[in-house]
Amino acid sequence: MRQSSLVVVANRLPVDDTVAPDGAFEWRRSPGGLVSALHPILHDKPATWVGWAGGTGDAPTLPDVDGIHLHTVPLSADDVREHYEGFANATLWPLYHDAVEQPVYHRRWWEAYQRVNRRFAEAAARAAEPDAVVWVQDYHLQLVPGMLRALRPDLRIGFFLHVPFPPPELFMQLPRRAELLLGILGADLVGFQRSQAAHNFAQLANRVLKLPATDRRIAVDDRVVRIGAFPVSIDTAEMEALARRPEVVQRAQRLRRDLGDPQKVILSVDRMDYTKGIEQRLKAYSELIADGHVKVRDTVMVQVAVPSRERVEQYQILRDRVEREVGRINGEFGRVGEPAVHYLNQPFDRVELAALYRAADIMAVTPLRDGMNLVAKEYVAARVDDAGALVLSEFAGAAAEFQQAYLVNPHDLDGLKLTLMHALEASPEDVSSRMRAMRGHLRTHDIQAWATSYLNALVPGPSPAA
Ligand code: ADP
Ligand code: G6P
Repeated sequence: MRQSSLVVVANRLPVDDTVAPDGAFEWRRSPGGLVSALHPILHDKPATWVGWAGGTGDAPTLPDVDGIHLHTVPLSADDVREHYEGFANATLWPLYHDAVEQPVYHRRWWEAYQRVNRRFAEAAARAAEPDAVVWVQDYHLQLVPGMLRALRPDLRIGFFLHVPFPPPELFMQLPRRAELLLGILGADLVGFQRSQAAHNFAQLANRVLKLPATDRRIAVDDRVVRIGAFPVSIDTAEMEALARRPEVVQRAQRLRRDLGDPQKVILSVDRMDYTKGIEQRLKAYSELIADGHVKVRDTVMVQVAVPSRERVEQYQILRDRVEREVGRINGEFGRVGEPAVHYLNQPFDRVELAALYRAADIMAVTPLRDGMNLVAKEYVAARVDDAGALVLSEFAGAAAEFQQAYLVNPHDLDGLKLTLMHALEASPEDVSSRMRAMRGHLRTHDIQAWATSYLNALVPGPSPAA
């Protein structure tokens, strides 16, 4: 088996199996922030990515993708139900996102979480060269750092959480909270999106495990675990180059024509997830039409909602509610050939996404809670013309970096309507000065800067990402 000096361990592999329109089987980059963030930093390094390929049963053998060796971990149907759909996405995901949906607790799911984490830890231990760097990602695998340290004490182990880490009053609900904290503390460096998350984690380590902890260091036995904020980003240069391509510019123009040449296009691009505030946004838009503030002919909304976690009940309920609301809005306010909301429940390739970004006057990114939100960053990077207004939730990690966005509290419906109107009516000068400032920030705070700063902190000296 091939061994690497840099091993990334994540529940998802960077590719997903799909069936192409001609019926052929193909592998495609999977949607979601984690894959978008890590994919660009690993190619042309002798790196291995340990992850799940998305199906059940035996693990398929996959070819290297862009120079990344893919090591698949098999999950059975029970593992998928109890680990991925259960503990990861019906317990931890809602709990870590402010419990905007009620977290579900089942003892059986915890057994599965341990079992699957152990399998990932064993796979990572096999994939790592002596003294290698292993970088474990996200909430599905919080026990892996501890398990891996027990198996391979020679390794340098990092852990990065892409989602928020909740305040103590929420985390304390978790039945297996002590084991979970100890699992994460198997790492040498624990990274979060925001310093508030590091603070929450330190407080919990102190309260639950009685460990001496500051917002930078936690003492565990004879080790010191460092913690800190490392806000994740995107490959800014790649998105800029994509957005400048003539085919993207033409496609954006074509999209606007197909939308009926409206004066304003409001765009949202999300996974179909209840944390994204899709329902609140649709309600705000429909009230703006009903109040007479916007006219459908002049101001159309495009909601892209890529299918996600479709077997988890809360996601099924959300999709039904969103589709009912889109139907209601279009039934009430649309005309033949002129819907108010253009709703697309499908994945798109990067060219189409870039064209959508370039076609949108307003990008509405209004999650109720989000670790970072890379869509907001992709939109900013794509606006090489310095046009386009970003309406951004204060509850997205990206808001800490994009103070020049039109910031909004998405729980406040009237505030959301006002902010959308503010962005719709803003002068081109106001829009472009804000966009320029945000683009300047993104150029220096890109994915390479994120990876380098994290890996330099994990392994002082020449970075494996350099
Ligand atoms: P999350 O991590 O919760 O999925 P992010 O906004 O951080 O949210 O990341 C979403 C990623 O998924 C972005 O890189 C975005 O381009 C991608 N994505 C979102 N919608 C689609 C879609 N319909 N087709 C393909 N990729 C998508
Ligand atoms: C978020 C999570 C990732 C996850 C992605 C897509 O970005 O932080 O860990 O991979 O959503 O979700 P999925 O359930 O399809 O992997």
